[in-house]
Order: sequence, then C-alpha cells, then structure tokens
Amino acid sequence: MSHLLWGGADCVELARSYGTPLYVVDETIIRERCREIKSAFLSKWPDTSACYAGKAFLTLAMARIVEQEGLGLDVVSGGELLVAQRAAFPMNRVELHGNAKSERELRAALSLGVGRIIVDGIMELEVLSDLADEMERDANIMLRVSPGVAPHTHSYLVTGHQGSKFGLPLEGELLQNAVRLAVASKHVRLKGFHFHVGSQIFEPDSHVEAVKRVIALVDKLQKEYGIPTEELNFGGGYGVGQMPDVKGEPHVPVALFTDGMMTTLTRECEARGLRRPAVVIEPGRWVVGTAGITLYNIETIKRLDGVTYIGVDGGMPDNPRPSLYSAPYRAVLANKTDEEPLESVSIAGKCCETGDILIQSELLPTSVRRGDILAVFNTGAYNFSMATDYNRLGRPALVFVRNGEPCIAAYRRTEEDLLQGEVVPEMLR
Ligand SMILES: Cc1ncc(COP(=O)(O)O)c(C=O)c1O
Repeated sequence: MSHLLWGGADCVELARSYGTPLYVVDETIIRERCREIKSAFLSKWPDTSACYAGKAFLTLAMARIVEQEGLGLDVVSGGELLVAQRAAFPMNRVELHGNAKSERELRAALSLGVGRIIVDGIMELEVLSDLADEMERDANIMLRVSPGVAPHTHSYLVTGHQGSKFGLPLEGELLQNAVRLAVASKHVRLKGFHFHVGSQIFEPDSHVEAVKRVIALVDKLQKEYGIPTEELNFGGGYGVGQMPDVKGEPHVPVALFTDGMMTTLTRECEARGLRRPAVVIEPGRWVVGTAGITLYNIETIKRLDGVTYIGVDGGMPDNPRPSLYSAPYRAVLANKTDEEPLESVSIAGKCCETGDILIQSELLPTSVRRGDILAVFNTGAYNFSMATDYNRLGRPALVFVRNGEPCIAAYRRTEEDLLQGEVVPEMLR
C-alpha cells in the first residue's frame, strides 16, 4: 500500500512515532513562500517590506524561519511578543497589533523597542502617549483605518468594512482627531496608516480599492495639514485553497495582490504629486497554510442511512475553523493513497458538539477501516494557533519536516499538562 509523504517523510511512520492527532509542517513550503515574497514583491518594488502575521501560526520554530528568511513579524499579544523574544527575533522587525491592547502589552512593546505599534483607536493612543512620556521612550506608530470595503470571503473573516471593531473609519472625525493627537504627542511618531481588509481572499479588487481610499487620506493630510505619510501597511488576507499545490489546485501568486496594489499606489501618487510612501505587507495564511497537514487516527466508522461518519481522534480543539465558520477542508487516507476514493463520508471530530464535523463531505476508499490514518490538508494556518482544550483532549504534537527528516517543535499537551495550574480551592477541600 502506498503512503502519503509530507516534506519527504512517510506520514504513517510519523503517526506511529509521534502519535495522533499530529500537526506536520513542511519547512520547505514556508521558505518557498517567503522567497516568493522576496522575488515577486520586495525585489520588484523598492522601499517595501513584509511582516509575517504570527496569528496564523507562531511557534519558536516558525519565528526562527521567518527571521532567517529576513521578514518581519506581526504579533498581536503579550504572548506572541514573548515567542518573538524567546526566538531572539530582532525587535525592530516586530510590529504589535491588537484592538484591545493592555497597558502591560504596551509597556512591553515600548521597553523592548518594537519597530511599530499599530494603534487601533483614540483611547489606546492616549494611553500609549502617556506611557511613552512616562517611560521616555519613542513610540513609532501607524494608525489602523477601516477602509470600508467588503471583500468576497466569509463574514467572520472581513475586517476592513464599515462598522468593523478594528481601526478607525476613514471618513469622519475620529481619525482626524487621532492624527492630531499623535502629531501633538511628545514621544509618539506617526509613521503612517494600516489597513487589513480581511482574510482568505482570492481577488485583489478589495485590496486595490482600499489602497485608493487610503491614498486619498494621505493626499488630504499632506495638502491640507502638511502632514506627510512615510509608510503604509496593506495588511494580509491572501487566500489559499483546500488541497496542497501538488494536488493540482492552482497556487495564488502573491503578485496577484501586490502588483495590483503597488501599481495603483504608484499611479495615484504620481497623479497627485505625492512621494510614494514605503509599503509593508502582512500575509499570514498565505505563508504557512499549505505547509501544514494534520494526521488523525480513525477510531470509528458509522454507516447510517444517508451518511457515513468517520470518527477521528481529534476535531474542533485542534481545528476550530470548520465549526467556527464552516471552513472547508479536504483529506485522504495517508496509508492507502493508491486506492480510489469512491465512498462519500463525513469526517466527525470526537467532541460533544453536533457541529464538530471537520469535513462535511469527502470521498475516501471503500476499504476505510478503524486504525487507518487520515491526513487533512492545508491546516498550517489558524489551526495550531487556534487550538483549544475543549473536552480536555490536549493539543496535538507539532513536527517540522526538512528533506524527509522530522523534528519535534511542540510536544503533545497531555491530559496531565491540562491539569497544570489547577487546584481544588481551599473552601472545597
Ligand atoms: C492586522 C492583520 N494583519 C494580517 C493578518 C493576516 O491575515 P491572513 O492570515 O489572512 O494573511 C490579519 C488576520 O486577521 C490581521 O488582522
């Protein structure tokens, strides 16, 4: 029987050695993506940089790879900042995001000297300005704006629309007040503006429209108030399919988005007589999504009238996305890749939730048995990073593979681990 290889490693062997469920990441794919960003964006357009969005998947190993590939890192909490620190990531290449940053997170960012703080609102700006004065530290900031565009993606993945919880609306007084406040602050340095229209997007039109809207703001600030914009951050959001590229699903080139945005920006700046600001992009999913798979052991098969459930030893705790917003996934039997997939099945997670269905409908070989290994593709992004402890299943181990050689990057969180830090309260003893 032929076995699925991932990064050159036999997936059945991986499941045997490390147990299941198991996250497996092919390091080569991540590096290829980083290199595509370099060749198709950074080398093509002067005065540009790229930060990997760590929320998609951030571990010490991932931070090391991103650092080695020369990208920056977008972090969104004190916890992600700590990963960057522990991985010895250069702090001037780190940017701190978040729509509800705590004072502790802002203090940490200032004392560590992160490259940029992406400020989400006026109250945050006031707190930051006071902290920067108190700590006598300069804060290099960008203001996040919501450009009011609606990309084609799941409503939970749209972030730059009107009424978004993220950023300040482009139109209206809030943004103008924030700019005034930033300019007046002693230690705050307003570098420019940030937008992120949403995630898992396959067409560049909403990104391009957002660029047009933001450049109108840049123009207005320059001409009416003499405030120059040094830098713009266009966020991330580039989509990935459900099957690995090798299975024939077309890869979305980064240039589909970056060329569209950069051409528009350059043309708009020329037309308005503006100097083109530096540009940063922040892809997450696109860098890592296709690099990861998850291996499960098949525990049970239940053939009912009209539906066959394949029950696996993981589910919504290791991949909450299908139950959160019906994210589609594809799978194969890793130990029977030579058998034709002919039977339509539903892949059920093991949690006590009817909605814990990893894949509504997939074709597997009719010979599917308890003990077979199921590989779910494209779980590299927003799986490990979104994992929960629901039903106390424990987070799977994480293995990186390089040229067929596996290497542990995170140990399985065992049932014992999950009890760490828990006590019977004094009053109940
Ligand atoms: C501010 C910001 N930047 C970048 C990203 C990365 O998005 P994606 O993983 O879709 O590229 C996100 C995702 O939510 C985000 O909120």
